[in-house]
Amino acid sequence: MKRNYKHIFEPLTVRRMTMKNRIMMTPMGTNYGEQSGEMSFLHINYYEQRARGGTGLIMVENASIYSPEGSNGTTQLRIDHDNFLPRLYKLTESVHKHGACIGIQLNHAGASAQSARINMQPVSASDIPSKAGGEIPRPLEKEEIYLIIKKFGEAAKRAQMAGFDTVEIHAGHSYLLNQFLSPVYNNRTDEFGGSAENRSRFVRLVLEEVRAQVGPFFPIFLRISADEFAEGGNTLEDTLDSLKYYHEEADVLDVSCGLNSSIQYQIDANYLPDGWRSYMAKAVKEKYGKPCVTMGNIRNPQVAEDILARGDADIIGIGRGLIADPEWVRKIELGDINDIRKCISCNIGCAGNRIGINRPIRCTVNPAVPDGEVYKKQHIRKPCNVVVIGGGTAGMEAACTAAEVGCTAFLIERKPHLGGLAMEISKIPDKKRLADFPNYLIHRSQKLKNLYTFTGTEASIDLIQNLKPDLIVNATGSSPLLPPIPGLLDTIDQDGSKVYSILNMISHVNDFPEDLSGKEVVVIGGGAVGLDVVEFFAPRGAQVTIVEMMSVIGNGIDPVSKAGMNELMKKHKVRQMTNTALKHVQPDSFLVETADGQEQLTFDYGFVCLGMKANQPVLQDIQNTFDDDSTTEVINIGDSTRARRIIEGTEEGRNVLNTLEKYGYL
Ligand SMILES: Cc1cc2nc3c(=O)[nH]c(=O)nc-3n(C[C@H](O)[C@H](O)[C@H](O)COP(=O)(O)O)c2cc1C
Ligand code: SF4
Repeated sequence: MKRNYKHIFEPLTVRRMTMKNRIMMTPMGTNYGEQSGEMSFLHINYYEQRARGGTGLIMVENASIYSPEGSNGTTQLRIDHDNFLPRLYKLTESVHKHGACIGIQLNHAGASAQSARINMQPVSASDIPSKAGGEIPRPLEKEEIYLIIKKFGEAAKRAQMAGFDTVEIHAGHSYLLNQFLSPVYNNRTDEFGGSAENRSRFVRLVLEEVRAQVGPFFPIFLRISADEFAEGGNTLEDTLDSLKYYHEEADVLDVSCGLNSSIQYQIDANYLPDGWRSYMAKAVKEKYGKPCVTMGNIRNPQVAEDILARGDADIIGIGRGLIADPEWVRKIELGDINDIRKCISCNIGCAGNRIGINRPIRCTVNPAVPDGEVYKKQHIRKPCNVVVIGGGTAGMEAACTAAEVGCTAFLIERKPHLGGLAMEISKIPDKKRLADFPNYLIHRSQKLKNLYTFTGTEASIDLIQNLKPDLIVNATGSSPLLPPIPGLLDTIDQDGSKVYSILNMISHVNDFPEDLSGKEVVVIGGGAVGLDVVEFFAPRGAQVTIVEMMSVIGNGIDPVSKAGMNELMKKHKVRQMTNTALKHVQPDSFLVETADGQEQLTFDYGFVCLGMKANQPVLQDIQNTFDDDSTTEVINIGDSTRARRIIEGTEEGRNVLNTLEKYGYL
C-alpha cells in the first residue's frame, strides 16, 4: 500500500528534524488541558494515539506564551513558565517513542482573549474587536510589544528544553500577531502600523527572537492566514508581497487562511472540496522556495498524494481527519484505505464543542475520542446474541461494537440498504461528504465474520425470537415531525401540491431545475435541516425565504456551519423571517404570523422542516414480548429515543458495551 503513496512516505528534513512522512497533525485546541494550563494525562494519551497511528509530525495546539493576558480558550495549555516543563516532557517522550516528531504552536491571543476568563481587558494592535460584537481591546504600548517578543523567545526555548523538535509561531486566525499583520485590525500610526512593512515588524521581531533563543539547528514553522477572506483584509496577493518582510527566520510556512469572520475557510465547512486551498501553499512556495504546509478537508490519501506529487506543498496538514481516525497514516501504510474512518467535516464534536460551547472536543464518527479504542482489547466471557433493529449509523455502530467484543450480532434493516438518515441526507450534493460515515460502517460490518446483516427485512417478533437474543437493541431512527397545523397533513407530499417534507425533497433531489431564477422557495424551519434546503436552492437563483419561530436562525448550530450559512444567505439575499409561526398550509402558500400580523407567502416550492421525531414501529411489540423474559434485555438508542444529531446516536451505539458489562457478558 505504501508504494502507491510514495510522496506521502518520503521523509523530509528541515534543519535537524527529519519527519518520516509528510503528514502533520495541525494544531487544534482540545480543552483537554488542566485548569492550571498543564498537560493532563488524558491529553498526552490523545496525542500519543496519533503518534502511534503513524503521523509524521504532531503540532500541538496553541499554547499560551503569556498568561493570562494572551490566553485563549477555557483550559488552554501554557508554556510561559518552567513549571509546565515536566508534563510537556512526558508528552514529547510519549510521542517520540513511536517515531513521530513533535512541535508546539506558540500563541498570544490578543483581542481574541476574553476578559471574563483573563480578568483584564484584552490587548491588540488597535481598539478593534477580533470578531463582530467582541470586546474592545486596548492597543499595546511599544514596550509591551517588546515584552511579548521576549515571551515568545522564552517559550520557544522552553519548548526546546521539553524535547519538542520544532515550534510553530501562530500569526494567523485573528490572534495577536495576525491582528498586527491585518489591516482589518491594525490602524496604528507608529512603526508597527500603516505600511505592510510596519505591520510585519512584530512578527519579524518575534521570529528573530525565537531564532536567537533556539539556535541554528532548530526548525521554526510559521502559520499565516494567507488569504483572510475578509473585507479590507489581506488577500493572497497582499500576503505574497508582505512575506518578504518577515519570512526570513521561518523554515516552514504553514499556509492557512481566514479570520474569525471567515471561520468557515479556516476550519473548512463541509461543502469545501478536499484540499481546495492548496493553491495558496503553491503560490507561497513558488515565490519563496520554502517548504509549505497545506491543509483543509484532506481526508482522501490520493488527494494528499496528488498535492505532494504536483509539488503544490511539501507537507500535508490534517486536523480533524486525525481526530476522526488517529490511525489515518498507518492504515495507508499497512492496511486497507477503506478502513479509514473519514472525518465528515460536520464540525459538531470538535469545533462545535471547543469553540462553540467550551466543551472538550469529541467526534461524531469516533466515539473513542479522547480515550482511544481500548474496548477492542475486551472479549465477552460467555456467549451473547445481540439483535440490532435498524441499520442507521447508531444501529450499525452498536452492531459492530458488539461483534468486535465477540458477540454474535444480527443487524436487521427494513430498507434494501444500510445507512439510515445520514445516507439519505448525503444525497443533497453539498452534503455528500456525510456518506463517508455510513459507508465506513458498512465496510467495518462486512469485515466482521460474527455480524450477520439482513437488509430488506422486517424485524418481526418471530424473526427476532428465532435469533435467540440475549440483547435487543432498538435503533429505528426518526421520521419528520408534522405538528397539527391546519392544512399541513392534507398538502405535504401530496399529488398536485408544492409542499415537500425533507425526505420527499431528497427523493426528488435530481429533479429540481438547475436554474430557478424567478422562482419562489419558502422553507419553514430554521434548524440544520431547513438550512440544508436553503443551501441547495439559494445558489440556483431562486428567491428563498426561511421562516423560524424562534428569534434566531440556526440555533445551536456550530460556529463554522453558521458562518458558512450566513455568508450564503447574505450572498443570495435570502429573506430571513424570525419570530414567525406557520399558521396554515395551502398547496402553494403558507400563512405565517409575525409580530406585525399575518402574511401569505406563496411559493413554487415549499418545504416544511420542523424537525424529526422518534420512530418506534416495533419497540412496543418487542417490549411486550420480551419484558417478562429474564434472559433477554431490550434497549433503545439513537433517534428512536429522541431525535438528535448523529453524534449522540454513535455514542449510544458504542455504549452497548455498558449494557454488556451490566449483564455480565463483559
Ligand atoms: C477544534 C479545532 C481547534 C483548532 N485549533 C487550532 C489552533 O489551536 N491553532 C491553529 O492554528 N488552528 C486551529 N484549528 C485549525 C486546524 O489546525 C486546521 O487548520 C483546520 O481544522 C483545517 O484542517 P482540517 O480540515 O484537516 O481539519 C482548529 C481546528 C479545530 C477543528
Ligand atoms: S466532529 Fe465532525 S468535523 Fe469534527 S473531527 Fe469528528 S467528524 Fe470531523
